[in-house]
Amino acid sequence: MRTFRNLLVTGGAGFIGSNFIRHVFEKTDFAGRIVNYDALTYAGNAESLADVAATFGGRYVFLHADIRDAAAVREALDRYEIDAIVHFAAESHVDRSIVAPDDFVQTNIVGTFNLLQAARERGAALSLFHHVSTDEVFGSLGPTGFFSETTPYAPHSPYSASKASSDHLVRAFHDTYGLPVTITNCSNNYGPFQVPEKLIPLMVLNALEGRPLPVYGEGLNVRDWLHVEDHCTAIWTVMARAESGSTYCVGGRNERTNIDVVTRICALVDRLAPPLPSGAPRESLITHVADRLGHDRRYAIDCSKLEGDFGWTQAYTAENGFEQTVRWYLENPKWVDSVRTGDYRRWIERNYAKRG
Ligand SMILES: NC(=O)c1ccc[n+]([C@@H]2O[C@H](COP(=O)([O-])OP(=O)(O)OC[C@H]3O[C@@H](n4cnc5c(N)ncnc54)[C@H](O)[C@@H]3O)[C@@H](O)[C@H]2O)c1
Repeated sequence: MRTFRNLLVTGGAGFIGSNFIRHVFEKTDFAGRIVNYDALTYAGNAESLADVAATFGGRYVFLHADIRDAAAVREALDRYEIDAIVHFAAESHVDRSIVAPDDFVQTNIVGTFNLLQAARERGAALSLFHHVSTDEVFGSLGPTGFFSETTPYAPHSPYSASKASSDHLVRAFHDTYGLPVTITNCSNNYGPFQVPEKLIPLMVLNALEGRPLPVYGEGLNVRDWLHVEDHCTAIWTVMARAESGSTYCVGGRNERTNIDVVTRICALVDRLAPPLPSGAPRESLITHVADRLGHDRRYAIDCSKLEGDFGWTQAYTAENGFEQTVRWYLENPKWVDSVRTGDYRRWIERNYAKRG
């Protein structure tokens, strides 16, 4: 069982990273310090951790810094005597990678390389580099079958290709230099604090406000939805217990078509929020739009290795997970507003508005 003193969490102001930091402080016996290393791109929001900063101030440090800056990475690792790294920081949105792939190469590939180099320079002082990756590196499935730890890589989008590249670098640093690493590849996450351009928060907020609910194609693409809290327990378990060099797939055992997810969200918003002025059910807002370029048909994860090795299992079901998430977005308009103004809004206006 590994224990850690000074954890560097990259991308800790993003969706999964902020949930992870809160989880570690509030739900584990971790007694050390967390340094949140984040460049605060459109996807990063320091407000997501305002409560953590207030409660755990003495053990929580926020560093506004970029993983593309190799010297800054090295300096952070030395200054805070980092003994473990959990690497979330990434450009993470497939649609953005289609419009502007450059940042994906710089952050996801070069940024990961900078971290690995600096980690290696810490020598025996570094006990673990945990890399957070995606099931999208495996490509697309037909109607049957599952991705597992032995599935060959076949990424399609610039996003998944950049993540695949970073996974390979992490394994190479383990195999070549003996760097202690673990990797998790997970399915689509959902839950609180997700930037409202991703499917679930986008649909909740558009449904609430009576705006169109854009669904790609027929909405028949299938994703396996994993609650972010379940993802956090999986990462922490792997970090503490998995053998160095090993990979684990993390899934929700919760496969759904996009149209099924959107329909469920409409029903939840109808039940939990005031009705639309027209009185129409929110489902009537669904608008089918041209499909995403190269849209992968189906992702599904076999997480039996994680379940078998450590007894890990999901705490959330589709029913309680989706309802908890919809309630959270309805109850946190201040957080939603803080994300929708600022860089996030400006990027959307620059890059999507012109597409019509
Ligand atoms: N969200 C999902 O469903 C999902 C699924 C599988 C894997 N993942 C992986 O999990 C990780 C976290 O995903 P997320 O959804 O929380 O992403 P996110 O986009 O919400 O957050 C990314 C964070 O990284 C920071 N960041 C971006 N570029 C940076 C840079 N150059 N230097 C420092 N910080 C930088 C951003 O400011 C932001 O806080 C990513 O590596 C992603 O590939 C996510």
